[in-house]
Amino acid sequence: MQSSLLETARAQWTRRFAGGPAVAAYAPGRAEILGNHTDYNEGWALSVALNRGTVFLAAPAADTRCRLVACDMNEETVFDLRSVAPSREHPWSNYARGVLAMLLRGHPLPSSGFDALLLGDVPVGAGLSSSAALEMAAGLALADLYGIPIGTLDLARAGQAAEHEFAGTRCGLLDQLSSLHGRRHALMLTDFRSLSVRTVPLDKDIRFLLCDTQVKHNLTDGAYNERRAQCETAAREFERLLKRPVAALRDVSWPEWETHAAEMDPLAARRAAHVIGENQRALDGAALLEQGDPDAFGRLMFASHASSRERFENSCPELDALVDAAHAAPGVMGARLSGGGFGGAAVVLTRKRDAQAVGQTLAEAFRLRFKRTCPVLEIEPGDGATLLHGADA
Ligand code: GLA
Repeated sequence: MQSSLLETARAQWTRRFAGGPAVAAYAPGRAEILGNHTDYNEGWALSVALNRGTVFLAAPAADTRCRLVACDMNEETVFDLRSVAPSREHPWSNYARGVLAMLLRGHPLPSSGFDALLLGDVPVGAGLSSSAALEMAAGLALADLYGIPIGTLDLARAGQAAEHEFAGTRCGLLDQLSSLHGRRHALMLTDFRSLSVRTVPLDKDIRFLLCDTQVKHNLTDGAYNERRAQCETAAREFERLLKRPVAALRDVSWPEWETHAAEMDPLAARRAAHVIGENQRALDGAALLEQGDPDAFGRLMFASHASSRERFENSCPELDALVDAAHAAPGVMGARLSGGGFGGAAVVLTRKRDAQAVGQTLAEAFRLRFKRTCPVLEIEPGDGATLLHGADA
């Protein structure tokens, strides 16, 4: 976390509320590094937590009113604890409202609402899970405020349920688990069937650049849910063809795909090829990093992007142009889209010594082609979500 984030949030709190916050929490955004749209197919993905995220401060209110201030947008919303529902007027608040509603399910209703303030430094709509950062920070802080015991997995599920029920995106658990389990200088390899997360250490001089196309990917617009439905259709087709249970595309091997692809609906076959390939790339990628071969790892990132572009059709011209420019740029090991797709940021693998020059090269290539800027963030993998106690809170 950038220390200035908490300081700024505390200063904003003092301007708006009497008394200090009772609880504070921080949760990072994430970048998906390999394993695209594998989570809801019960496969594997490699991700990092960003060293950027959201802080959420809260204190009990005198009555059941909940007041939520979003500093980044200078907006505020008020609702009653007894009827927590999605808001059309303040859609940003649905991630916090949704997590709160999940926390309260099955618990006696607390007697007081809260004043809360959130501030983040993850670009919104860039595919970097600013929404999961908000869910996890709000979840940690509000569970602590109300003394509701909740484990990591249930917190991740509460965030996912907020996305499904309050925001309308049928996401998997990648974003929430990555935000919770992040480790400095490490990737996470998550198995989305067992929901176990393994840490894969990274060389300290590895850097990721996030090049934001500023094409607003809006996962609630239906394309994400459509891809998920297509994967579910493909899994059902395989169950019929293989004559055995196929709970998810995780259960289909590449040789089985090769044997049966021609008998399938071509669209379902392409979507399945992407997911099956991505699962293998995530597993191979973890092994390559453990063997100390980031260059070969980077080649898997390029292969992943090509698969997104051709088989899953969740890229866009701006992302393709960035990845092509990265392919040609000295000092780049790999590049691909990250997260849901259809816009947002490309993630580029490089080294500390090359990061600045690579960022400039890619931003310039983007400017020449699209006549506008492409903000480039250099990130180091950071730690996961945490309550901020004592002097920090
Ligand atoms: C979004 C979703 C995740 C995951 C990725 C694609 O970030 O929220 O659950 O499906 O897209 O891998």
